[in-house]
Amino acid sequence: MKDTIRILGIESSCDETAAAVVENGRKILSSVISTQVEEHRKYGGVVPEIASRRHCENICWVVDGAMKEAGLTFDDLDAIAVTYAPGLIGALLVGVNYAKGLSLATGKPLVPTHHLRSHVASNYLAHPELEPPFLCMIASGGHSHIVEVTDYTKFRVIGRTRDDAAGEAFDKAARTMGFPYPGGVYIDKAAKLGDPTAFKLPRPHVDGSPFDFSFSGLKTAVINTVHNAQQKGTKINTNDLAASFQATVCDIISEKLMLALDETGHKKLVLAGGVSANSGLRERLQKDTAKRGVAFYCPPLPLCGDNAAMVASQGYYEFISGNIAGSDLNAVASKKIEIE
Ligand code: KG4
Ligand code: ZN
Repeated sequence: MKDTIRILGIESSCDETAAAVVENGRKILSSVISTQVEEHRKYGGVVPEIASRRHCENICWVVDGAMKEAGLTFDDLDAIAVTYAPGLIGALLVGVNYAKGLSLATGKPLVPTHHLRSHVASNYLAHPELEPPFLCMIASGGHSHIVEVTDYTKFRVIGRTRDDAAGEAFDKAARTMGFPYPGGVYIDKAAKLGDPTAFKLPRPHVDGSPFDFSFSGLKTAVINTVHNAQQKGTKINTNDLAASFQATVCDIISEKLMLALDETGHKKLVLAGGVSANSGLRERLQKDTAKRGVAFYCPPLPLCGDNAAMVASQGYYEFISGNIAGSDLNAVASKKIEIE
């Protein structure tokens, strides 16, 4: 095995077209992200067809930009990693087909990379000392998993959401409060100005599955609170409602994670996915893990959301473990993190 392995990562699973070059899974040589968020905001959510079209328009200059920023040519690469699952199928297909074309043209191996595994890897870029095994909470727009990461390419899900993902609950609650899409970051800002004890909101449990989440009851409680006030003509303090909602989500997530740490005995907790940008959740988990002598890791803010540096990082570990795709690689809309 060479001393220096450079991987180009390509990401197009949702509404960010991104490319990045990473060395040995840990050192970012370049990272370019083209976001479509402003366009989707008009519709209150991602419109899949628009996302696919924009990926098509942007992917060439995004990849070229990442190569230029790294100061490399395709010859300098060892492999091309691409997000092939899970995500919006039309969006994924753009990145997958581009990567296949590039792999054929350059002769560089094609590495299929799972989007949620890549979110976990965003932490390797920021924390050089971090190595599996550890316990990980992946909270994104589409997923909420508690996962045991036993090795770089070995995952065991011990808890998952039964209905809405954490990010989805943030976005739907935010929409009801009148915030633009995606609303997680607006709730985060408003929560800083509000009283987290102002509203008593439900903390739903899943009977017999202590590590599984259910966020839909909480989301509905926020929607009902806002609608009841509208019907009565009373005004709600949005900052208080945002703070109460966020504190409830933090309670639910932290309680389950602390139980999972106690039961599994892991001494490291890692947070990943778009919701890992939430300041309340970061503070809460930092505090609760410190009490137990558990080390806590989360990505720096620019690596919390979708990016391709995390794809190139995970791609490195997939590559060295021999996970290489053929030219028949297809995009897959939904795929478990455990299975490749
Ligand atoms: O991982 P991600 O960028 O995309 C998916 O793979 O789904 O996650 C996006 C989610 C959105 O629901 C967004 O509202 C949420 O992450 N998010 C946040 C914050 N920043 C982004 N949620 C809470 N607080 C934030 N600061
Ligand atoms: Zn994501």
